[in-house]
Amino acid sequence: MKRKTGIYETTNVAGENVKAFIPNDLPPGNPKIKIADELESLLQTAESNIGRLEASGQMVPSLDWFVYAFVRKEAVISSQIEGTQASLDDLLATEAEANTEAPPEHVEEICNYLEALKYSRRQLHRKGGLPLSTRLFNGAHKRLMSGTRGQYKQPGLVRRSQNWIGGTRPGNASFVPPAPHHLSNLLGHLEKYLNSNDSLPPLIKAGLVHAQFETIHPYLDGNGRLGRLLITLCLEEWALLSEPLLYLSLFFKRHREEYYKRLAAIRTNGDWEGWLAYFLEGIAVVSDESVKLIAALFETLSKDRIRYLESGNATVVGARLFESLPQNPIVTVKSAVRICGTTRPTAAKAINSLVDSGILTETSGRSRDRAFSYGEYLKYLREGTEIIY
Ligand SMILES: Nc1ncnc2c1ncn2[C@@H]1O[C@H](COP(=O)(O)OP(=O)(O)O)[C@@H](O)[C@H]1O
Ligand SMILES: [Mg+2]
Repeated sequence: MKRKTGIYETTNVAGENVKAFIPNDLPPGNPKIKIADELESLLQTAESNIGRLEASGQMVPSLDWFVYAFVRKEAVISSQIEGTQASLDDLLATEAEANTEAPPEHVEEICNYLEALKYSRRQLHRKGGLPLSTRLFNGAHKRLMSGTRGQYKQPGLVRRSQNWIGGTRPGNASFVPPAPHHLSNLLGHLEKYLNSNDSLPPLIKAGLVHAQFETIHPYLDGNGRLGRLLITLCLEEWALLSEPLLYLSLFFKRHREEYYKRLAAIRTNGDWEGWLAYFLEGIAVVSDESVKLIAALFETLSKDRIRYLESGNATVVGARLFESLPQNPIVTVKSAVRICGTTRPTAAKAINSLVDSGILTETSGRSRDRAFSYGEYLKYLREGTEIIY
């Protein structure tokens, strides 16, 4: 598929002439995206699997549990793709106020992602809040890049200088995004497209929008994370999922080389279809895995609940703590005091009862400031969240 997806413009960066790419506005034309053959069947599978994910979400009594867990899984993985050296356990331990080995500024980066997501969803849900727009992206970017590692990357501001991807300088970069003076126009069109009634199926639209965002590369840093966050927001805005349950970044992480290659091929070969095929396969695979994960987590909880209640160790506060474990799979006495609204001795007793029943395990290896993990639950949840070194 050869089509022109944009134009190259020679710009001078740091004394070097480079060819920056300016993408055409969405939707792709000449020829238009034709949903047929392989792409059609991939779309059907993706739609059907994401539909099953939505249905699974509706069928579990405590959807909040899984939203909580899956949003964190996505936050961790999407950040790891960009070099964040912290794991899901590091995030959960930090949330339980336990110590971790991970550099705090890396955990902070994941927390920032969670803040950016929360902010964006609040804007989109609230009456009079921002729609999918440059202003929303700026607000999300500001939160994403706040703190130690992002503060010098102009948080919340569209870049005012030329950037490049790959290579040590623009001249040997794998990709030079558009010069800064094009950004407001490009983002304006993207915003218009996001809010238009294009007849293309919403999953296709989401794929187009992500790639377009990466090609525009509007910020000095954070474009990958923000562009993937945008997918999550689109899926909810366009009623494919009523909660942010899809951790699509796992697919990008697993097939990272192909992720970059497919994005690049849109520019170099006009290959929108190849990117869309990859994207839809990701949606299909991760949706399917998420459905299975929901089932596995739910079954684990049901089994362990009975185990606990029948163990002879159960206490009322212990039962309450157990019910909060899906949202706090790592706990400390301190966090249990907060969660259960109780005293330290009662919280400690509740934790001990869950340890005696084989549900919680001490994982800090310390005698003070100990941390307890719900290992059986985390075993499933953790899959794919290993740090990329
Ligand atoms: N060849 C390419 N063409 C377009 N986008 C690309 C290409 N290679 C990588 N990307 C995108 O750029 C992202 C990295 O950009 P960056 O601003 O550093 O994001 P983050 O800070 O979130 O680290 C990748 O995750 C990917 O989405
Ligand atoms: Mg980066």
